Formats: sequence, C-alpha cells, structure tokens
Amino acid sequence: MRITPWEVEGVIDYSRLIQEFGMKPFSELIGKLPETSPLIRRGVIFGHRDYERIVGAINNKKPWAVMSGFMPSGMPHFGHKMTMDEIVWHQKIGGNAFVAIADMEAHVVRGFSWDEVKKVGLEYIKSIIALGLNENAIIYFQSASSSIRDLAFELSAEVNWSELKAIYGFISETTLAKMYVTSIQAADILQPQLKEYGGPKPVVIPVGADQDPHIRLTRDLAARVNIFALESIDSGIRIRSRKDTDYLRKISDVLNFDKKIYDEHIDAFGDKTEIENEIRRFELELGGYAFLPPSSTYHRFITGLTGGKMSSSKPESFISLLDKPEEAEKKVMKAITGGRGSAEEQRKLGGEPDKCSVFELYVIHLVEDDKELEEIRNECTSGKILCGHCKKRAASLVSEFLREHQEKMKEAEARLDAYNIVIR
Ligand code: TRP
Ligand code: SF4
Repeated sequence: MRITPWEVEGVIDYSRLIQEFGMKPFSELIGKLPETSPLIRRGVIFGHRDYERIVGAINNKKPWAVMSGFMPSGMPHFGHKMTMDEIVWHQKIGGNAFVAIADMEAHVVRGFSWDEVKKVGLEYIKSIIALGLNENAIIYFQSASSSIRDLAFELSAEVNWSELKAIYGFISETTLAKMYVTSIQAADILQPQLKEYGGPKPVVIPVGADQDPHIRLTRDLAARVNIFALESIDSGIRIRSRKDTDYLRKISDVLNFDKKIYDEHIDAFGDKTEIENEIRRFELELGGYAFLPPSSTYHRFITGLTGGKMSSSKPESFISLLDKPEEAEKKVMKAITGGRGSAEEQRKLGGEPDKCSVFELYVIHLVEDDKELEEIRNECTSGKILCGHCKKRAASLVSEFLREHQEKMKEAEARLDAYNIVIR
C-alpha cells in the first residue's frame, strides 16, 4: 500500500497503517466518551492521535474545537459527506467548528481558476450546512483569510527543504506554491487556537489517513513556534525556551511550584497539567502562541461503487451530493456487491457484506439505527435477501436522501447570511 496526501494505492491494511504511522486504535476510547456517533461505533473511524485531549475537554466541560478542510477541485461527494458528518457531530456535542475551503490548494495542486474554486467551494459550504452545521461555525476560503495567510507565513519559517522532502517526497521540480500550501494547511489546523478564537485549546481534525503527514508536521510545528518547550519528567515538567534564554529567567520568577533551575532548563515539580497550564498562561502574556498539539481522527477510505478506488474521473464510481436522484439510483444498481456467482449459491452461502460497496453505503450513510443495520447484515449473510433486492432498497434510500439534501441545500443558500463566512 502507498498512502500520501495526493495518492492512495493498493489494499489498505488498517492495523498495519496504525502501526506504521504511529496512530492509536480508536476503539480504546469508545468507553470513555459520553456519546458516540455511528461512524465511531461501526469502526469507520479506526484511528486517532491524542484524542484523549478531546475526551478530557468534553468530560471536564472545557472549550475545544473541531476543524477540517475541503479541497474544491470537484463537486462534493459521499466521501466528503463522511467528513462533514464528523464535523457536524463534533459541533453537536460541544466543539467549536471550523471549516476551511482549501481553494489555494485546489488552485495550486489541481490548477483550478479562482472563479471555479469559489463556485465549487460554495457547494461544499451549502452541503455541510444542509447536513446540520449551525451558525456558530467559522467557515472560510483559505485565500480570503488574512489570519490564515499570516500564520502560514510564520509557520513556514520553521520548515526546511529536507524536512519537506522527507515528509511529502517532494522533488526538485516541485513548485514553491505546492510546498507552501502545506504551511497553509498547518495554519488551518492551528488557527482555532489563536487569541482571537479564545486561545490554546484541544482541536480535533477528522481526516482520512492520507492526510496524516500534514497532521504530523503540524503537531511538530505547534511545538516549534511556541516559546516554551515542555517535556514530561518523573514528577513534573522540564521547561526549555526555544527563543531567548531570558524567557527562562522570566518564568522562573513567576512559576509557583517547587523547581530546580539550571542554565538551559527548569524542572518544575507538581501536578503536570497545572504546571503546563500555568506556563501556557504565561506564554500568552509574553505574546507567544502556547499551542497544544492538534488531535486527529482517521476514517477508512471509502471504496468505489465500481470496485477499487473512487476516482473523480469516473463519476459512476461514487455518488455526488449533487447527483440527480434517478442517476444516483442507477449507479447503486450497477454497483459491485459482495454477492455470489448465482442466486442459488447466494441462498446457500449468503453474501459477503464486508466486501460489498452497497453495504458500505448502509454503514456510512444510509442507516442511522444499529439494530436495523445488524438486520441487513443478517439478511445478507444468511442468504435471505439477494443483491438485486438489496440494491433496490439502498437505491431508494440514496435517492430519498439526495432529494432531501438538495432541498436543504437550497434552504442553506437562502440562509448563508446568517453564517460567518470569510469569502473572497
Ligand atoms: N488537504 C485536504 C484535502 O485534500 C483539505 C484540507 C485543507 C484540510 N486544509 C485542511 C484537511 C485542514 C484537514 C485540515 O482534502
Ligand atoms: Fe451487498 Fe446486499 Fe448483496 Fe449483501 S445482499 S452482498 S449487502 S448487495
């Protein structure tokens, strides 16, 4: 398997992915959350980094945020819907929501004109509103946000060429702009922690695993631009200054914990969280960022309806949120299933739902209720239902959903003024 932000190839082995990338399985957190979403319960969200921070903020009723971005290089489809559902769910359970329209990325990486990305970007915005995003969200086009551009510039001062090469596999021919949009995305991810949005806080970024290089880089950058570098030691926190050592002297004057002072660092002893909070508060006073490393969740890649990968050059391989309901029904009827060679065989052996693109539609998009989903799985594996019939049911759920969704998009268009949207 080969996974980068710009291409995904091969058969994906999720437990290997977790190991190789150093993520953690999401399943270990399920019991700690007061509420779960269907995507979490069904293992579609399979991995995370540092989501414990989010769980902590939820349980302690502290501020936290959710942010993700969409590249408007093609119309929004069911893959984007999954991320949108994740943002909306996190907003419902108390996160401040941030939505980036990655028009700079689409312009630079995919060559779309500014007019095109604006038009397409608006379809994403209407879609996520139709899916339930409320007016408290911050929505912006990257190119229209001066705070994103300023922060990206600051962050880019901490990234050098060998690092970009190692993380993204960039080559001599890679353009400066393509490199620069990695800083823009890092700025998207860290912006919710700026002073104007209430300062440092846990932020979760729901993405596909292909976006993990961006997450890793941004977690590093978050630490690099801070004044103080914190490291956990036996019964406290070791503090170093990444900027002037003068900052260390300043913090030793105000820090109200048992401490040992050295030339290059200070060891403070006591409750780690309390020490960290105190240092962050002080860093903010000094004009620093005091960023926390962002958290992330990773969802599975969705399979194309035609088998194999979903591809924007093959419209029959996915359902677009703007498809005519009748057309979407046809796509479902033609989809590759986990059915057997003959009806007789299928009645005997049952179908294979875990290899079926139609069952995947039920899991991710069409069936809210877990019991109902279990029934569909049983009907399939017991051979009680055959694929033709099953696809018809999925097709009518899809067209029903699309009809309603497109109606809600129209309503969203009429209500856009009620939202905080930074638009060029
Ligand atoms: N690069 C992402 C994609 O290709 C889009 C994106 C832009 C994004 N900014 C982001 C995703 C911030 C997560 C967080 O889909
Ligand atoms: Fe897929 Fe339905 Fe066929 Fe089972 S019966 S393989 S779920 S289409």
